[in-house]
Amino acid sequence: MFTHEKIEKNVGLLIILTILTVSVAGLVEIVPLFFQKSTTQENQLVKDGIVKPYDPVRLAGRDIYIREGCSNCHSQMIRPFRAETERYGHYSVAGEFVYDHPFLWGSKRTGPDLARVGGRYSDQWHYAHLRNPRDVVPESNMPAYYWLDRPVTNDDIELKMRALRKLGVPYTDEEIAGAKKELEGKTELECLVAYLQGLGLALKQVR
Ligand code: HEC
Repeated sequence: MFTHEKIEKNVGLLIILTILTVSVAGLVEIVPLFFQKSTTQENQLVKDGIVKPYDPVRLAGRDIYIREGCSNCHSQMIRPFRAETERYGHYSVAGEFVYDHPFLWGSKRTGPDLARVGGRYSDQWHYAHLRNPRDVVPESNMPAYYWLDRPVTNDDIELKMRALRKLGVPYTDEEIAGAKKELEGKTELECLVAYLQGLGLALKQVR
């Protein structure tokens, strides 16, 4: 009846059968998630206060990370494979990303995954590495970000936090009001390193 020849020579039929196949496959993957506790209930890491919203300094650092395109070379997503968990630590879990808008999982690893880089090196190491990676890793091909030694702009931090609140991040009015002050006197480099040093720490408290 549905021979290869018949289907492939009849574009309309091919389109209909393709859509049918893809939708069935999609539904089989997606529908069970609606009935699975881990995707429909508030995440335990959040409930227990282990994963917290980014404070203003880390939030500013995260925006610098986005601006400088770090995720073009670095993923933040450890897959549940031995080769990855041996190198980077526990695989990434959904609850770690609830306050990430947008996600920075990335898809390319020119450099190592950074999902659990927090605490792996000292702040001083990061400062040196970001100013010129070859000072600490001679064979590195990571670009030097020497311009980050400048004051961070803080006039839009309140707006950013308000926007994130609309997306469900529970910042209080006091936190938003105090944000500008927290960034005063900080450099972009300090904010970026504060962000890096917080990456992946939450899960280490429970596993
Ligand atoms: C062109 C690709 C590229 C870009 C863009 C890039 N990196 Fe890297 N990064 C690398 C490579 C390659 C390494 C490994 C060699 C080294 O340590 O320098 C690395 C290493 C690192 C490490 C050490 C990780 C570890 O576990 O040893 C950190 C931290 C890091 N990068 C942060 C950043 C940040 C922050 C940015 C953006 C400001 C950035 N990188 C942009 C390629 C890149």
